[in-house]
Amino acid sequence: MIVGERVVLRAVERADLPKIQRWMNDPEILRRIYTYRHLSQDAEERWLQQMSESANDFVFAIDTKDGTGTAVHIGTCGIHHVDWKNRTCMVGIVLGEERYRGQGLGTDAMRLLVGYAQQELGLHRVELEVYPFNQPAIRSYEKLGFRLDGTRRGATFREGRFQDVLVMSVLPGELTSG
Ligand SMILES: CC(C)(COP(=O)(O)OP(=O)(O)OC[C@H]1O[C@@H](n2cnc3c(N)ncnc32)[C@H](O)[C@@H]1OP(=O)(O)O)[C@@H](O)C(=O)NCCC(=O)NCCS
Repeated sequence: MIVGERVVLRAVERADLPKIQRWMNDPEILRRIYTYRHLSQDAEERWLQQMSESANDFVFAIDTKDGTGTAVHIGTCGIHHVDWKNRTCMVGIVLGEERYRGQGLGTDAMRLLVGYAQQELGLHRVELEVYPFNQPAIRSYEKLGFRLDGTRRGATFREGRFQDVLVMSVLPGELTSG
């Protein structure tokens, strides 16, 4: 468990899967992330099994406290494609519950995630990809200290056209303290 001031990153449990499945089938979320398949409950269960057995993936549930102080599961995030030789990885995040977006909670969760990648896993370059239209996400990553490495022009076919993908990364010492 990784404990921050407003969010906690913890292991994903089987009981979390129905919620995650609902988020991953939400069109507003699907258009912002890499996955394009609609995911069945079976696929979600296989995903969790694969993630828990993988040495190169680390997935977390994001919890925060609601008004009564009760923990509420608001999203997921993960470290993927760890390359132990070059000490690089990719990260991703989804706050599935819309009412919890825009309050800095996703930014806080990503700060914990990158801190874990760099301080605990000893990784050097933490990379992510984001679509240019996803301005809230880009703004969140910029606040964290991620820098734009470049544009993968026409790298994805979405919504009937080829679209660019932005590559951003953060190196040790560049993560902001918030
Ligand atoms: C991207 C995401 C993780 C950011 O987390 P967050 O907690 O919403 O981030 P923040 O609250 O720090 O907001 C970042 C920026 O979003 C914008 N924003 C403002 N209100 C917002 C709202 N209601 N919803 C989303 N973004 C909002 C602001 O520009 C804000 O920057 P500011 O603090 O300088 O004003 C979250 O919005 C999310 O999960 N979105 C849907 C899935 C997604 O896009 N994932 C990333 C794929 S690359």
